[in-house]
Amino acid sequence: MTALANIKVKIFADGADLDSMKAMYQNPLIKGFTTNPTLMRKDGVTDYESFARDVIKAIPDRPLSFEVFADDESGMERQALEIASWGSNVNVKIPVTNTKGKFMGDVIRRLSAAGVIVNVTAVMALDQVRRIADSLDEKTAAIVSVFAGRIADTGVDPLPVMTEAVDILKSKPKAELLWASPRELLNIFHAEEIGCHIITVTTGRSKAPARRLWRYFSYSSSRLPVRRESRAPFPDEMPGPHFRPGSAPAVRASDSEVPEPPLRKSQG
Ligand code: E4P
Repeated sequence: MTALANIKVKIFADGADLDSMKAMYQNPLIKGFTTNPTLMRKDGVTDYESFARDVIKAIPDRPLSFEVFADDESGMERQALEIASWGSNVNVKIPVTNTKGKFMGDVIRRLSAAGVIVNVTAVMALDQVRRIADSLDEKTAAIVSVFAGRIADTGVDPLPVMTEAVDILKSKPKAELLWASPRELLNIFHAEEIGCHIITVTTGRSKAPARRLWRYFSYSSSRLPVRRESRAPFPDEMPGPHFRPGSAPAVRASDSEVPEPPLRKSQG
């Protein structure tokens, strides 16, 4: 199987285990990394900033997404500016809505205008993609993370949604669409077919479908002409995390809860 070596869609690893991130950094197929406070908490991170700084030190030259955890607009903006200052390869994840369901367009607009590369996350609907596109500065790169797998969880085929999202984002050529929450290896080829720019492969310890995906991905990768020792470890093979004590990052609804199905109107 060589197809993975030739694909254009960029594969980002989504997780929060420093040792596995370092191992994946050795794999040329992994073009960037994403994480979020929920994954950090599940992987035992107790000090957000020190974890993030360790990751940035270990991975200085590929995109790294770290997420704000404030729920109010000014708190989000302040955290985003601070997180962005940690490294030139840092992208800042901003949830598309806060836990009260308010669209974070003003925050996205101000940060993007200030040159911060935002990764707008937990996006579930095309209308949100349109509003995000309108909020982004055309001179600043950005990522829009649509949770395709959670859309699928609602019984809706995410492929047409993602296809249209690619189209919408053409209005902002510096913005990239990220296929988040993949459910199967096939999603990588779906993403490739529709011209989606990035797809994550989740490596979190407690995600059963993601574990399967990661197993297939690692297997496929290991058959490509990359150094054998560079194969990223399957989570079971990883040593435990080593993190400094401190305050645990908060769990935010946008990561840990499935929002109301946004796309399917009531059939009744
Ligand atoms: C992104 O930040 C999330 O970690 C991820 O894509 C969500 O995946 P899930 O729907 O499998 O929880």
